[in-house]
Amino acid sequence: MFNIEKSATYKLGDRSVKRLGYGAMQLAGPGVFGPPNDRDSALAVLREAVANGVNHLDTSDFYGPHVTNQLIREALHPYLEELVIVTKIGARRGADGSWIPAFSPQELTQAVHDNLRNLGLDALDVVNLRCMFDVHQPAEGSIEAPLGVLAELQRQGLVRHIGLSNVTAAQIEEGRGICDIVCVQNHYNLAHRDDDALIDELADDGIAYVPFFPLGGFSPLQSSTLSNVASRLGVTPMQVALAWLLHRSPNILLIPGTSSVTHLRENLGAAQLTLSPETLSELDGIA
Ligand SMILES: NC(=O)c1ccc[n+]([C@@H]2O[C@H](COP(=O)([O-])OP(=O)(O)OC[C@H]3O[C@@H](n4cnc5c(N)ncnc54)[C@H](OP(=O)(O)O)[C@@H]3O)[C@@H](O)[C@H]2O)c1
Repeated sequence: MFNIEKSATYKLGDRSVKRLGYGAMQLAGPGVFGPPNDRDSALAVLREAVANGVNHLDTSDFYGPHVTNQLIREALHPYLEELVIVTKIGARRGADGSWIPAFSPQELTQAVHDNLRNLGLDALDVVNLRCMFDVHQPAEGSIEAPLGVLAELQRQGLVRHIGLSNVTAAQIEEGRGICDIVCVQNHYNLAHRDDDALIDELADDGIAYVPFFPLGGFSPLQSSTLSNVASRLGVTPMQVALAWLLHRSPNILLIPGTSSVTHLRENLGAAQLTLSPETLSELDGIA
């Protein structure tokens, strides 16, 4: 067992979650498409995460599609009371695995029902509206219409809390005028720090910031500084990268993704790592 309590907790909607969570995207097949190469191993990763105290899972019905949600249900249903499952809507997958915007009222409503069915839930804890004005990075565009649809589904009781993903500061401001926003999920890590100012602003307002690609995603972080710090501390570079995020701001919630129980255990070990001010400023130099 890892003591992930040391990562502390943070408010996510009306609940509190441990700051070290787990992102399920890597459990689908290659390219986040189709079934996993090793289904038993995917189920084992999910069970191991929860057995070690993880109570925040990130997923989407467009991973696979449907695959990761079905794995979560098979591995963990009926869910522990304290488990918070965060999903996202706003995209669909083409037959070739491509990522296609799905922002019409019908597509957004269908996506909520798909998530409910595949996760085996009556209401979703948190749903992120994943913006697709640019698939790869935040790009301006009004979110009033799609967020209005999600807010209506919340009023119907199908969604408890709403978050935003792949968004600009202006879209967050627009969104907060429409409904309560409990979290923001954008690309951020030791080497990709476009959201530095945004994270501090959200912290001031008590909104969770959940970096995707915390380990670099499809291009894992590589840096001689990171490697040197890790070897000096007797830990791995990935553990240092996660510990740096935990130190960066108290409103950061981690959802590192992995399809490996060994990597999962390594990542959970980051909760116990304390970085000195000198080490933090050395790591800050990477960006
Ligand atoms: N909102 C969005 O648009 C968006 C986009 C992307 C992701 N997400 C969410 O964010 C979560 C995290 O992002 P991510 O999974 O894409 O990227 P990530 O956590 O930055 O990195 C995952 C990659 O790192 C590898 N890895 C994990 N732990 C490792 C370790 N200890 N040592 C070496 N390699 C390790 C994984 O391979 P192995 O499987 O071999 O461990 C995988 O290739 C996702 O699972 C998903 O839930 C959201």
